[in-house]
Amino acid sequence: MSAVRSTQVGIVGGGPAGLLLGHLLARQGIDSVVLEARSRPYVEQRVRAGVLEQGTVDLLKANDLGERLQREGLVHEGLELRFDGIGHRIPLAELTGGRAITVYGQQKVVADLTDARLAAGGDLLFEVGDVSLHAIDSDAPSIHFRHDGADHELRCEVIAGCDGYHGVSRDAIPAGAVQVYVREYPFAWLGILAEAPPSSEELIYCHHERGFALHSLRSPELSRLYLQCDPSDELDVWPDERIWEELRTRFATRDGFTLNEGPVVDKLITPMRSVVVEPMQYGRLFLAGDAAHTVPPTGAKGLNLAVNDVRILAGALADWLASGASEGIARYSEQCLEKVWRVQHFSWWMTSMLHRPAGRDPFEHKLQRAQLRYVTRSRAAATTLAENYVGLAGA
Ligand code: APR
Ligand code: PHB
Repeated sequence: MSAVRSTQVGIVGGGPAGLLLGHLLARQGIDSVVLEARSRPYVEQRVRAGVLEQGTVDLLKANDLGERLQREGLVHEGLELRFDGIGHRIPLAELTGGRAITVYGQQKVVADLTDARLAAGGDLLFEVGDVSLHAIDSDAPSIHFRHDGADHELRCEVIAGCDGYHGVSRDAIPAGAVQVYVREYPFAWLGILAEAPPSSEELIYCHHERGFALHSLRSPELSRLYLQCDPSDELDVWPDERIWEELRTRFATRDGFTLNEGPVVDKLITPMRSVVVEPMQYGRLFLAGDAAHTVPPTGAKGLNLAVNDVRILAGALADWLASGASEGIARYSEQCLEKVWRVQHFSWWMTSMLHRPAGRDPFEHKLQRAQLRYVTRSRAAATTLAENYVGLAGA
């Protein structure tokens, strides 16, 4: 026997997409339950992305989620492209009428959203298991799951699949009802978090014949660094000393750049792929965030795309559930996909320009160098990068 209860919106996944959706719905008087497979400490400690577009920051602040973000977020008005041992600054704000990015770890966004939800008395269940979706093509969908050793059924008006790339929601849609576009890249990123002060105030995207490297940060004491590696590499072939050696080599400049080093406190290899599920909706199931699409991390877009989806979904669901207006939910997928594909292109472009090509193809290497020189010399080309990086207004 299952314990049965009802809600308006059943949200599968308590990552940024699911939690923000619950928050935005609650502000419009819509009831929801968020079901998260992992424990609270796990999701709040998991080191993920960290770059927020201007529009993402504005949305979080406008919805009472800006207090710690305002205090701890690091506003960046430029970034560096480094190749041939020389750095070139792209002045993001100057090229985009003052727009900037904010470096603020995704786990902080998740912790802020979790605090806000629990403080408001919202339903958020951690460590749910055996999640399955039922009758999503009817007007009475439900979610079955286990929690605290018991079976539960959550009856909903709508289900939001916010359970990321490895979730179950996407697979609940019958094959043939959606088209899935996939691009696998022949490289992966090895990411570390190190207790070392950042070696530069701004992010450095570095093109090197040994492979791409990225310098980022989390705070004045913590550096976040990435190295292009082989997707088949296991962590044990990357002891810390090899990572530092490789980072020093790739970031080296003609004028003697020094990379600050320190204890490595987190280490992970992530494969790189682009995926889009079209449409992002089937019956009463709406996909949002990584459940619907993933991008390679080179454009720093994953979290921002997730936020854009749920902004649109929250508005559409509120209109429909409160007043029966269905235009918004009918257009949900189409509206999200416009930005999804713009961002897919940008992420693919950044990835292709910066990574060591498969097989070290010398022709491709020459094309990359030509493109990098163009982006750093032409104001028009630099503006293309900048406006996509900070987030195009309205797309
Ligand atoms: N049931 C419940 N929760 C689940 C299930 C499941 N079957 N499967 C996965 N989850 C949870 C995960 O534990 C995770 O907390 O769903 C959440 C999905 O969160 P994310 O993967 O962070 O995805 P999303 O919220 O869409 O945010 C996108 O995350 O991967 C990054 O770079 C990406 O920044 C982007 C952001
Ligand atoms: C990060 O800080 O984790 C980060 C920054 C820029 C990216 C990807 C990740 O493109």
